[in-house]
Amino acid sequence: MNPQRFHDSARNRKNMTYKYDYLVIGSGIAGMSFALKASRKGKVALICKTTLDEANTYYAQGGVASVTNLEVDDFDKHIHDTMVAGDWLSDPQAVEKVVKGAPKGIADLLSWKVDFDRKEDGSFDLHREGGHSEFRILHHADNTGAEIQRSLVEQVKANPDIDIYDHHFAVEIITQHHLGKIVTRRTPDITCYGAYILNEDSGKVDTFLAKVTVMATGGVGAVYTTTTNPLIATGDGIAMVYRAKGQVKDMEFIQFHPTALYHPGDRPSFLITEAMRGYGAVLRNLDGEEFMHKYDPRLSLAPRDVVARAIDSEMKLHGTDHVYLDVTGKDPEETRRHFPNIYEKCLSLGIDITKDMIPVAPAAHYLCGGIKCDLNGESSIKRLYAIGECSCTGLHGGNRLASNSLIEAVVYADAAARHSASVIDGYDWRHDVPEWNDEGTAHPEEMVLIIQEAKEVNQIMAYYVGIVRSDLRLKRAWNRLDILYEETERLFKVSKPTRELCELRNIINIGYLITRQAMERKESRGLHYTVDYPHK
Ligand code: FAD
Ligand code: SIN
Repeated sequence: MNPQRFHDSARNRKNMTYKYDYLVIGSGIAGMSFALKASRKGKVALICKTTLDEANTYYAQGGVASVTNLEVDDFDKHIHDTMVAGDWLSDPQAVEKVVKGAPKGIADLLSWKVDFDRKEDGSFDLHREGGHSEFRILHHADNTGAEIQRSLVEQVKANPDIDIYDHHFAVEIITQHHLGKIVTRRTPDITCYGAYILNEDSGKVDTFLAKVTVMATGGVGAVYTTTTNPLIATGDGIAMVYRAKGQVKDMEFIQFHPTALYHPGDRPSFLITEAMRGYGAVLRNLDGEEFMHKYDPRLSLAPRDVVARAIDSEMKLHGTDHVYLDVTGKDPEETRRHFPNIYEKCLSLGIDITKDMIPVAPAAHYLCGGIKCDLNGESSIKRLYAIGECSCTGLHGGNRLASNSLIEAVVYADAAARHSASVIDGYDWRHDVPEWNDEGTAHPEEMVLIIQEAKEVNQIMAYYVGIVRSDLRLKRAWNRLDILYEETERLFKVSKPTRELCELRNIINIGYLITRQAMERKESRGLHYTVDYPHK
């Protein structure tokens, strides 16, 4: 945020206090589907840090996994595929909940007017992706997320019980700590009373009091240099909950998507959907040779961690920074019909995917861990729920099965809406919450340093906490992050909070959590691969 940008009238106003039944932080699929359901029970504030559109959800390509074709598919197969992908670390109850709740989640999306592609006979046109034993991915061409985001934005805008606050940045959640009490990780009843939210127009940090607060802040891809996530994905919700002494789990399991378009300088990287490999595209090295047979009998459709590591290994073997995805063997007409957006994007860079191979490389894509929550989506902090990518429900275990996350967000948003509706009448607003202390200064030079330090965090994570890890690399990351942590916390204490400073703080916290939980896992499991404890 640039302080100079504040509107004059707004700049001089006081800090405000708002009261809502529900405070929902995040306007992706998780936050918006929760808001739509909760609005039947109470008044909702829906907060997002930039525009309503800018969210991981908007970028999703492949689709939404759900058993719909009962002639060939069933829940047991989807459950089994999810457990295998998760390296048997998934929580079976969470897996069953999402898989069996998925058809109802699809019905919710249809009721919000999401348009999934269908065949001529009216049945869903199903795709298949890595790790799925059946065709079970519902999609809207190759831009399913944009279609979902469009529909949900329309629904929330039309809902009189949802107040939308865009360009509002959640800085911290409010707990007993802000009432002057000592809160540690052992405090039994940490309770959330709302959040301090930075209004980007006024530069003021306002107090949002809520009976129930919902964290739906999405992923952490922007902690890495190369990512498919929009750059707002800085893990804010997870960092806030961790600082408030809430439980955070499975952070070492960062999913790298094997096939992001290799186009140096692009941040985020454009995704080439896994559905393209499901459709028949094959991976080749720079000499045009297929290589997946050396790594896994499932070839290009092996789970993502296997394919990403295989590509990483090929790139190291040949000293290159990308490989190729080749779809030229398929019918050009059909390719253009299935992947119109990828076709157009690549063509704009001079790559005709019906004739040319597509340069691809792995990129940070998805966080399997996050804020630990139970089957109702409730976190370890009372009156605080976590849903969507920022949460750790236990569904993904060591690795997420492709297209399982959008549906997880819808199923858990429903569970959290139901559960919170059943308890909210027993909660009231706290009236003794102090205003945010607005003292502090902002210096232009600090802004330059903040941008530089954010780049340093990205590089540390890319070099030392990437696809292949080791004890030495993790220790190195830890030491470097520690220096940045000390500097940034000192700056935060004496500065007015800006979005950039808060995001820097958050990515350092997230980098630390990924590194620490990776150091604690003394085995290669799921997405966490370390040369010091190779696979048995
Ligand atoms: P998001 O959609 O990321 O929304 C986060 C929201 O939180 C945003 O509104 C943001 O403004 C807000 N926010 C964050 N921090 C703050 C703050 N401090 N203050 C205020 N607001 C804040 N999954 C699938 O299942 N199928 C797919 O095909 C698929 N394809 C994908 C392709 C790409 C390129 C990417 C990046 C992801 C893909 N995923 C896919 C993953 C999936 O899109 C995400 O997991 C999912 O959309 C996350 O939804 P969410 O609602 O949890 O978060
Ligand atoms: C993709 O389309 O390859 C992404 C799917 C996902 O991340 O679930």
